[in-house]
Amino acid sequence: MPLVTTKEMFKKAYEGGYAVGAFNVNNMEIIQGIVKAASETKSPLILQVSAGARKYASPIYLKKLVEAAVAENPDLDIALHLDHGEDFEICKSCIDDGFTSVMVDGSHLPYEENIALTKKVVEYAHARGVVVEAELGRLAGVEDNVNVSKEDSSYTDPDQAVDFVKRTGCDSLAIAIGTSHGAYKFAADSDPKLDIERLKVISGLLPEFPLVLHGASSVIPEYVAMCNEFGGKLKDAKGCPEPMLREAAQYGICKINIDSDLRLAMTGVIRKSFAENPENFDPRKYLGPARDAIYGMVKHKIVNVLGCNQNK
Ligand code: G3H
Ligand code: 13P
Ligand code: ZN
Repeated sequence: MPLVTTKEMFKKAYEGGYAVGAFNVNNMEIIQGIVKAASETKSPLILQVSAGARKYASPIYLKKLVEAAVAENPDLDIALHLDHGEDFEICKSCIDDGFTSVMVDGSHLPYEENIALTKKVVEYAHARGVVVEAELGRLAGVEDNVNVSKEDSSYTDPDQAVDFVKRTGCDSLAIAIGTSHGAYKFAADSDPKLDIERLKVISGLLPEFPLVLHGASSVIPEYVAMCNEFGGKLKDAKGCPEPMLREAAQYGICKINIDSDLRLAMTGVIRKSFAENPENFDPRKYLGPARDAIYGMVKHKIVNVLGCNQNK
């Protein structure tokens, strides 16, 4: 089966009260680990590529690696998605390259400019059978080296969300309810908290419309500890507790974005391998275990957090 859009996956996710995992990919081992977990659980899957990932691996390499995953798993529903497209040009480039979904992230723009940019991308994408995720409200944290401070972040306004969806025709909407990108989502001395009441209001005003949660890594303590035990310096890292993500999936969150947990699993295992096998210089001997860790972590997310396991 060729790459699919997220249309059908989101419809089923909405009806089933679960979320589809959207995992950021940068290289072969990451893709293989994620896809193995989705394949074993027969889960729908979104592989997402940021502008930084495209630049790092080159657009053609990443596309061909994803095509290899599709060829090896013809029965799996896989969407290829652009993560945080900041202008029309990058969205167009990905659509022209065969992505089935793009995110246009105009959340940094004034409201009317976000609408105009999103509308332009929607028109181009829909004419080519591609779906569009947009963003309203602003998450704190780091994306593509842009650091948004807590003061510059803002939660999504429910009435504005309704107006935005109506006027842009976007297919899904990323909202800000307290998550943030990266490994430091909540202050060391505060409890993690999401504005679930706001989410309920937004999803109540937009029935059957898929919402998206960015910055949704749990920052798994086991991997933070592994990084730190073997020379890392990740002091006070804190993520979104898994029960909160499960709750969000009950209220219209159909797509949950995970990148930091992949980075932490990979880095933890490689640090451990370097420390325990100083004589080794064969990359397969540390990239292989890193790939296994990604597989295990993603399978855990699918089965225990996202609820999108179709192999029940
Ligand atoms: O939202 C940001 C994602 O974690 C992608 O990060 O832009 O460094 O590839 P990146
Ligand atoms: P995390 O940093 O929580 O993994 O979020 C990733 C993300 O939202 C990618 O768009
Ligand atoms: Zn994001």
